Amino acid sequence: GASLPFANAPDTDYAQADAREKAQTALQQVRQQLGKTYYPFINGDYQPTTETVDSVNPSNPSEIIGKVGLLSIDQAETALNAAKAAFPGWRRTPVKQRADILRQAAELMEGRREELSAWICLEVGKALREADGEVSEAIDFCRYYASEMERLEGGYIYDVAGETNRYVYQPRGIAVVISPWNFPLAIATGMTVAALVAGNCTLLKPAETSSVIAAKLAEILVEAGIPKGVFQYVPGKGSQVGAYMVKHPDTHLIAFTGSQEVGCRIYADAAIVQPSQTHLKRVIAEMGGKNGIIVDESADLDQAVAGVVKSAFGYSGQKCSACSRVIVLDPIYNTFVERLIEATRSLNIGAAELPSTQVGPVIDATARNRIQDYIEKGRQEAEIAVECEVPETGYFVSPTIFTNVSPDAKIAQAEIFGPVVAVIRVKDFPDALAVANGTKYALTGGLYSRTPSHIDQASTEFEVGNLYINRTITGAIVSRQPFGGFKLSGVGSKAGGPDYLLQFLEPRTITENI
Ligand code: SER
Repeated sequence: GASLPFANAPDTDYAQADAREKAQTALQQVRQQLGKTYYPFINGDYQPTTETVDSVNPSNPSEIIGKVGLLSIDQAETALNAAKAAFPGWRRTPVKQRADILRQAAELMEGRREELSAWICLEVGKALREADGEVSEAIDFCRYYASEMERLEGGYIYDVAGETNRYVYQPRGIAVVISPWNFPLAIATGMTVAALVAGNCTLLKPAETSSVIAAKLAEILVEAGIPKGVFQYVPGKGSQVGAYMVKHPDTHLIAFTGSQEVGCRIYADAAIVQPSQTHLKRVIAEMGGKNGIIVDESADLDQAVAGVVKSAFGYSGQKCSACSRVIVLDPIYNTFVERLIEATRSLNIGAAELPSTQVGPVIDATARNRIQDYIEKGRQEAEIAVECEVPETGYFVSPTIFTNVSPDAKIAQAEIFGPVVAVIRVKDFPDALAVANGTKYALTGGLYSRTPSHIDQASTEFEVGNLYINRTITGAIVSRQPFGGFKLSGVGSKAGGPDYLLQFLEPRTITENI
């Protein structure tokens, strides 16, 4: 079919006073709704659970954002059966109708933009400006995948004399989406609506720490007109209910974004053909990174310092795209490091909702302890150059810079997923590339340089899914910078890109002799 042209949703301009006011009003309104209970949405109804878990504000953990009902194994079974029953109807639903539900969801999100940003800010401790960008990204995913499915619907025609050949796409069946807390709206929306628009019945299991925002997404999809059983919201414990759905013989596809450890387990579990299972499962797994930025001797240092600070410490380094290694050429090493330290010391650290905050908390106590353990290890391996005061309440970790780090050090190799950066000194550009590529990950990478030959060489040899030259390495925009990596960063093609939906579809060829 003809697909509608796609345009990215603009972010809020917080330079406008009325935008800032609206944001404050939304925060107050959301605050009045805290502490409610959110139950799983199964086969068209909210179903009570025996167990609930509190989702709290990482900036102020005594503030309960909501209570989340945890799905039981029996309820997971009921949901999978409902998905199976709904599938024949959904796969026959015209693509236009499916795509229009996504477009309606995008409209509803736009209408609730400030409110959604406020929920994100309070539930996962993301600064408002970045939460707003996430709402834009969620809207973009809805509109982009709607257009993409319309583009793919026609398939291909390979006719020759005496024979017609049609190449068409059909849905795979039941999709289980396991979404992360770090982009609790955007990534949950992207994986879910991709699966849905392709004609799959979809179960969304969000990360436990971001299940309230996922419940808002569920409300929106239901209001947009998704039929019962086609979409189900199934919050629960990943290790129990998540694993159960991954291993279930009726599951066809798992779309996961999260840690490498869990992603690899899902990949392995999904490979086992269960008794009564008559298909192989498809796994899409977007995992970690140990993303490096190279700064060479020709770089604009103002730009490089600002870009590294934003890439490393934005959302406290908890983006899979975040910078955690800076690889600096010897001639400018001292100057660069001095300025990086100075810029980092001036960051405002505080509660995510405060307009002045540049670095907020990390997601929970477990994350804080894990990151602090890495920092302790780092002290034995390298020199600690920056540590700042952080608020006492809340799960805060100081932006931390280690200098003169060996490329093989633990802090230069492990994905810490926090505001910790290892600065590595290299003698020349080939050495810089070798160090940059010397990890098991290949997600994002950056280069600050004004040397065309270095830019060319990085384009071909810097082994990352998303390479950014002379800019920050986070904040990929749907359809402009399709996002995703390879090596142990993941399996599957890029989110927000032209190949993404293909993974949710089964191609068939129909040949007729005439
Ligand atoms: N897509 C996000 C970014 O580019 C990471 O998941 O920052």
